Amino acid sequence: MEAFHYHVFVCDQKKPEGAPSCCARGAEETIAALRREILARRLEDEVQVTTCGSLGLCEWGPNMIVYPEGVWYTGVEPGDVPEIVRSHFEQNTPVERLVRHDEAEVRAEILSNRAKRLAAVRINTDRR
Ligand code: FES
Repeated sequence: MEAFHYHVFVCDQKKPEGAPSCCARGAEETIAALRREILARRLEDEVQVTTCGSLGLCEWGPNMIVYPEGVWYTGVEPGDVPEIVRSHFEQNTPVERLVRHDEAEVRAEILSNRAKRLAAVRINTDRR
């Protein structure tokens, strides 16, 4: 049995100026709206929200994943939050227009971003 009906991981990663990140694209406002809407609909005992580091789709933020299904949402703005809470968390119907469906594409993008990050770390390590 799941501890909560839904567990939402929302990226609140900050990155250096100019680097794409969820916070640079408004994640803090989206997270605040999500917490407010869940409380307003009295879903706080059913929907757990956890902020987290980068989910790897930094150019598309704010990003979040909803478990147990593992639904990927990208580009979630505060104005999208009431629809997600109502449709997904109350009616078990994800908001299709915000869902990334192509799992192979998501995986490839995350792996590509990870490879870039690791290459940058190696360059910085080599300079020491
Ligand atoms: S900064 Fe949010 S997915 Fe990378």
